[in-house]
Amino acid sequence: MNNLHPTIFKITQEDRIKLLNQKPFLIWFTGLSGSGKSTLANATEKALHRMGHKTYLLDGDNLRSGLNKDLGFSHEDRVENIRRIGEVCNLMLDAGLVVLAAFISPFQKERELVRDLVGAENYVEIHVDCPLEVCEQRDVKGLYQKARNGLIKNFTGIDSPYEEPKDPEIKVSTNLRTVEETVNHIVNQLFQLTSSN
Ligand code: PPS
Repeated sequence: MNNLHPTIFKITQEDRIKLLNQKPFLIWFTGLSGSGKSTLANATEKALHRMGHKTYLLDGDNLRSGLNKDLGFSHEDRVENIRRIGEVCNLMLDAGLVVLAAFISPFQKERELVRDLVGAENYVEIHVDCPLEVCEQRDVKGLYQKARNGLIKNFTGIDSPYEEPKDPEIKVSTNLRTVEETVNHIVNQLFQLTSSN
C-alpha cells in the first residue's frame, strides 16, 4: 500500500469533451535529430488550430529546458524523459486537448508505454523518417558535427541507438516530400484514423 487516495473530481473528461466539442488524441512524432519532427509538428498544429481544434504542442528542446532540465541523454534519462512526457500528455488528454508531441523517443518500449498509458485508440504514432546521412547533412543545429568531433556523447544515430518504429500509424519521409505535402498527408490520415475509432 502506498497510502495514496486519488480524489474523484466532479468535472470529468467527458464534461470537458462536451464543452470543447472535440475528441482528444495524441499525435506522437518520433525520429532522428534533424529529421523534421518539430517542423512537421508545428505545421500540423497550425493546420489543426486553423480548423478549430484546441491543441497543445510539446517538444524535446523546450521540455528539456524546464520540466526535464535535470535529465541528460543516457539510456536511463531518455527513458525517464519519455515517461514524464507520457504522463504530461495523459493529463492534457484528460483536459480534452489534441496533443502533439515531438521527441526523438528512440526506444520502442517507451513508445509502447506511452501508447498503453493513453490508450491505443487515442494514440497516433508518426514515424518521421529521414536517412541519417541526410539529417547529418542538414545539421541545422550543428550537433552532428559536434558528435562526430566527440564533443557530444550519446548522440542519437552516432553513438546512441534509434529503434525504428515497428508499426507506426503514419510514416512520412521528409527527404522525399515538402513540408506542405507531408502535412496535408498527415491531416488526411489523422481524420481517417480518428473518425474510425
Ligand atoms: S529523447 O531521446 O527523446 O529523450 O530526446 P528529446 O527529448 O527529443 O531531445 C532531443 C533534442 O535534444 C538535443 N540534443 C540531443 N539529441 C540527441 N542526442 C543527444 N546526445 C543530444 N544532445 C542534445 C537536440 O536538439 C534534440 O532535438 P531535435 O529536435 O531532435 O534535433
